[in-house]
Amino acid sequence: MSKINEYEKIINDIAKNKGYDSHITISTSNRRDLGEFQINDAMTLAKIYHKNPVDIAKDIKEELDKDNNFENINIAGAGFINVSISNGSLIKYINEIKSDINNNIDKMNPKNILLDYGGANVAKTLHVGHLRSANIGEALKRLAKTLGHNTISDVHLGDSGLQAGLVVLEIKNRYKDLPCFKENYNGEDFNLPITIEDLKDIYPTASQKSKEDENYLNEARQITYQIQNNDIVYTKIWEKVSTLSKRDIKNIYDRINTNFDLWEGEMDSFKYIKELFKYLESKNLIYESDGAIIMDVKEDTDDKEIPPLLLRKSDGAYLYATTDLATIYGRMKRFKLDEIWYTTDIRQELHFTQVFRGAYKSKIVDENTKLGFYGFGTMNGKDGKPFKTRSGGVMPLEMLINLIKDECKKRINRNIVEEEKVEETSELIAIAALKYADLLPFRATDYCFDPAKFSDLDGKTGPYLLYSTIRMKSLLNKADESNIKYNDYKIINNETDKEIVITLLTLPNVLKRAYDSKSINEIAEYIYKLTSIYNKFYSENKIITLENEDLRESWLVLTKVVYDTNMLLLNIMGIKCPEKM
Ligand code: ARG
Repeated sequence: MSKINEYEKIINDIAKNKGYDSHITISTSNRRDLGEFQINDAMTLAKIYHKNPVDIAKDIKEELDKDNNFENINIAGAGFINVSISNGSLIKYINEIKSDINNNIDKMNPKNILLDYGGANVAKTLHVGHLRSANIGEALKRLAKTLGHNTISDVHLGDSGLQAGLVVLEIKNRYKDLPCFKENYNGEDFNLPITIEDLKDIYPTASQKSKEDENYLNEARQITYQIQNNDIVYTKIWEKVSTLSKRDIKNIYDRINTNFDLWEGEMDSFKYIKELFKYLESKNLIYESDGAIIMDVKEDTDDKEIPPLLLRKSDGAYLYATTDLATIYGRMKRFKLDEIWYTTDIRQELHFTQVFRGAYKSKIVDENTKLGFYGFGTMNGKDGKPFKTRSGGVMPLEMLINLIKDECKKRINRNIVEEEKVEETSELIAIAALKYADLLPFRATDYCFDPAKFSDLDGKTGPYLLYSTIRMKSLLNKADESNIKYNDYKIINNETDKEIVITLLTLPNVLKRAYDSKSINEIAEYIYKLTSIYNKFYSENKIITLENEDLRESWLVLTKVVYDTNMLLLNIMGIKCPEKM
């Protein structure tokens, strides 16, 4: 158990012994002069036990006074208890976590969680929305793992929509000589003479044509339908396009430290669709309406209209809802899952409400399995509208990364970073800048893209965190080189030292709240806070040259613990730290 929860348990045990059986929590106080922590539960207990809150506070204080973890206990106002943790107890705490930072984490009861994020679309360019999905989803996965859960991540590629027909149609027009387009094609394998660069042109061209030419659009629709229904020629081409496109998509995900256990897509759900429809039919849940097949998911208690799930269009084509429901059907068959988490743009919320309802109503998912939608807001430009390229198009993710990279490159200290490392280092800093800025606001909040601000070495930025963390590491390296040992934490020197320790103490609660809200923002705030206090400490003290060996040793241990904490949190955020910058 983490120390903070140990303290909380002691206090709860004390209260229980005094006859107050209700959960008491300790929270950090903003009146540090009165004590670092506060207990605010006396008022709640007063209502339960029909007693004066001040008397309850006194009862608890009496026992706390006897416990040498606590000191300076006083009662304020209507029954608030202010508490400080004794230096002796804090010193013990740092010694408990100094060699394994996991000792400062509370593991949860392990659950099996499948995370659906990323969601890139095959043959289309990744855009900033895909950045947010990948970045937030990846961090949530890493957080869940850190807290002890088992995770499966699935990129769930968009690969069954109209773009499939459009791309294949355009390929058909451009490469008439492919063996698969010959009369006597027998299904044998062939080479598709297309590069990623070609593909980057094929989709936009086809999409444009379909807007100008209705016949073209209809043909693309027809081909999409045929791909969905396993047409031997079109499906083969589409598979090849997918393979090529996936390689490109994976390169971009690699750049932003996002990795998936499963590289599946909407098309992988098609093998369940027949079975799914049969199942829904057997439960009388679907019916025909104007040639389409739909399922009602509205509930009596709805205060806004929840439209039915559209599972098959009148032309026979399947839709986004179909693939998502069939994907859930497949996942529940293949895995033993406690939860499935979806991280997409918040504008998809209604879609997921409908799909989740369909899944529960049909009992594809039982009530013990949680389907969670964790939507995110938009990255805007300075004009407050979704961030665009100069010409007003959707900003490709690669272009966005490169914009920040240029900013970061300007700021690299060339006296420290060797020429041949500049490229690699600016990449790491740029990714940190982008990812951190994206995790800093609450998940569902929109934010403004500002490359100069995100890349700044000062302020709440990724580069600031990297720079500071590297400096901690180099201090520890210096100690190692000078053969200075730092094994034990012995002295809390002053308020700054103590503030670092108290901040470390609260980490488990920050992680827990981030987990509960499925948003990394509190972690992003926390690492900034810890780093800033550490930097204050760093600028106030000359550590390596200090003569008081016990204090020097304590300071180095403290540095190591902060460094380990930062590395843990950067890793949760999917941010890598360069050696120098
Ligand atoms: N491909 C979709 C898009 O680009 C996102 C997929 C989200 N996941 C899901 N299971 N629907 O908007």
